[in-house]
Amino acid sequence: RHVLSVASECVPLVKTGGLADVVGALPAALAPQGWRLRTLLPGYPAVMRKLGRKARTVREESDLMGGPARLLSARAAGLELLVLDAPHLYEREGAIYLGPDGRDWPDNPERFAALSWMAATIAAEGADSWRPEVLHLHDWQAAFAPVFLRDMGAAGSVGSLLTVHNIAFHGIAPASRLAELRLPAWGFHAGGFEYYGKINALKAGLVYADRLSTVSPTYARELMRPEFGMGLEGVLRSRGADLVGILNGIDETAWDPQTDPQISNFASPKRKRPNRKALLAEFGLADTGGPLAVVISRLTHQKGLDVLLEALPAFIARGGQLALLGSGDSELETAWLLAEEAMPQVAVRIGYDESLSHRMMAGGDAVIVPSRFEPCGLTQLYGLRYGAIPVVSLTGGLADTVIPANDAALTAGVATGLQFHPVERDALAGALAQLCDLYADRRTWNRMQRRAMAHPVGWAASAPRYAALYESIAPA
Ligand code: ADP
Ligand code: GLC
Repeated sequence: RHVLSVASECVPLVKTGGLADVVGALPAALAPQGWRLRTLLPGYPAVMRKLGRKARTVREESDLMGGPARLLSARAAGLELLVLDAPHLYEREGAIYLGPDGRDWPDNPERFAALSWMAATIAAEGADSWRPEVLHLHDWQAAFAPVFLRDMGAAGSVGSLLTVHNIAFHGIAPASRLAELRLPAWGFHAGGFEYYGKINALKAGLVYADRLSTVSPTYARELMRPEFGMGLEGVLRSRGADLVGILNGIDETAWDPQTDPQISNFASPKRKRPNRKALLAEFGLADTGGPLAVVISRLTHQKGLDVLLEALPAFIARGGQLALLGSGDSELETAWLLAEEAMPQVAVRIGYDESLSHRMMAGGDAVIVPSRFEPCGLTQLYGLRYGAIPVVSLTGGLADTVIPANDAALTAGVATGLQFHPVERDALAGALAQLCDLYADRRTWNRMQRRAMAHPVGWAASAPRYAALYESIAPA
């Protein structure tokens, strides 16, 4: 059985966040279920470089939204790829969504409408002597595809599934671009992809895809509420029966404390010690003897790290210490660098560093994820696997993956982390105080770490759910 998975990023070729991890992990997760996934990606320079000479041209377009384009077929990094090589859209160095001024590329709607159009064309006409039975579309960048499919008269010949990884990004374009984006006028109304007079890519997928999913059961419910739906809660409610939450897994081969080549390997929490020591040294921290917490994150409003800044002095006063790796909004970067200057127990690295993120999970006693919303979240899952106890807000996938250390859970011996609510200073400071207390109680702490490390974080439970979903929409 065949699926075309369509996304704007994919590990190990190009990544800005968890979307790439999940898109990169799905093919291996679904293969044992009898579903073969090919992944369609934009031909950014980073992707083109990794294809090398092995790529074959399987389709050509003389004008795809402003220039010529080729569809390439290749195997790279263990993935079966289709790559849309369109230099006028993707041949730009630097960040994949942002120009040098730090703002979205003005032609992002065209860049990803082209990707979606190619996805629909592959489904409708086939490519490389191959045709998928299911289109698995990820986020707004792939979400016009169901509209193009309908317009091509091919909606009945392939099932479409849109997975929402983050509803905060809609892919908005002015109505005047309708024709340039090849969008049909029949869909431009309030019950279609029109959104307050503009074109909304995500809404196109939410309305026209056969089925919808998101990356945790709690987020699936939250999405239908105005606090989380970001203006699309009504659309989601109207399609509530077609929406499911399927929890993300992690790549358990890349993230395995027993074999990870980037750390000193360990099978039990006690053996984390050398990693902890190395991490303190790497960040230039003098051990306080209290918990060493880590944060690995995009620095954006979603992630609540401004609230962590407010709770930090109380945590430090109780003996806590913290190492943060992140990049993003410049005000947040500056604020964190100031905190580092003010507090010797706080060390900050601004940047993106995959290997360092592994060392931090291995050396950290705890990982803090204070998100305002979190569709799933992966860093708490890495934390569980590496025995870095997650301290998380009670939202989305964070609520679904961490068993909080309340009295009942501690007595029952099932807790794997700490949870707080709401995302405000006092609630977070309270959880961090509890973290310090638990850390001081070595027996309880050790048991909790062991349970965390044993908590299932792979794809074993979720892969069959995706397979069943594909099965339900594939044409008979
Ligand atoms: P999101 O996709 O919203 O950013 P996730 O928790 O799902 O949140 O995924 C984030 C992914 O990006 C994780 O794999 C995390 O380790 C990684 N990551 C985020 N920031 C950095 C960074 N500065 N350096 C290395 N990895 C990072
Ligand atoms: C998004 C979400 C994150 C999720 C990831 C992968 O980036 O912010 O919570 O884990 O997608 O699904």
